Amino acid sequence: MPLSKGRISVEDRGFQFGDGLYEVISVYAGKIFALDDHLARLQASAAGIRMKLPHTLSGLRCVLRELVRRSGTYDGILYLQLTRGACPRQHVIPRRGIRPTFLAYTRAMKTGSVRQRGLRAITVPEIRWGKCIVKSVNLLPNILARDEAVRRGADEAIFVRSDGTVVEGAATNVFIVKNGVIYTSPEQEGMLSGVTRKRVIQLARKARLKLAQVRFKVARMKKADEVFVSGTITELAPVTRIDGMRIGDGRLGSVTARLQVLFDEMVSKEVER
Ligand SMILES: Cc1ncc(COP(=O)(O)O)c(C=O)c1O
Repeated sequence: MPLSKGRISVEDRGFQFGDGLYEVISVYAGKIFALDDHLARLQASAAGIRMKLPHTLSGLRCVLRELVRRSGTYDGILYLQLTRGACPRQHVIPRRGIRPTFLAYTRAMKTGSVRQRGLRAITVPEIRWGKCIVKSVNLLPNILARDEAVRRGADEAIFVRSDGTVVEGAATNVFIVKNGVIYTSPEQEGMLSGVTRKRVIQLARKARLKLAQVRFKVARMKKADEVFVSGTITELAPVTRIDGMRIGDGRLGSVTARLQVLFDEMVSKEVER
């Protein structure tokens, strides 16, 4: 079909989460260059994010060669993208009822146009993807983390740095309570500034609960009296177990429960329901 007629669902996980893979492959004189290398990398990438290829490698080879033939591409690129498919938005990877989206197209193009002219470069800090303050659709790490949580019989994954510092959940911010004091990480580059988190901080201050925005390590979190997470969809939810270890008495704690009540009151007031 013409490129302009190609359509994907707005709920495609590639579009909503970056939950997908791609390859760009050269076409020289109507022939696909290094196709097997690209397909081997695609296969390895798919394995890396627990995605199954929708066709065998020889099936893919056939389709792609046919595409180049029918499109009459002489010199250019072949772009292919494979996403987890479309389904109602949720972080966890659905086990069934979803078919991968596979698309490929060609573009006439002369590659290597800078071979004579050369390029100027700059150096930048390696931050891929450290800018978690940006609410970006590059959510593949979050997807894989949440999915692993579910595979291991849990609900949420909490990101922890190599030095043990707790950052945030896959789609939530984390709070701990110890001896009546609430702790949450300060806003930092590596964490999304949650709207719910901000509201929790405001509510705690208004209710004169003690709250400190400080970094804490995973060992401290596991020894907390209460741990809870906040998020738009989650609202405020107690975390009763972490890595199989019980937190506090393993039930909704009194500080979390109090904040839930305050949260509900705040919502009711703002939306007048
Ligand atoms: C990575 C991450 N952290 C925290 C949150 C919580 O943010 P909010 O309370 O604004 O929903 C989200 C929400 O999706 C998130 O994706």
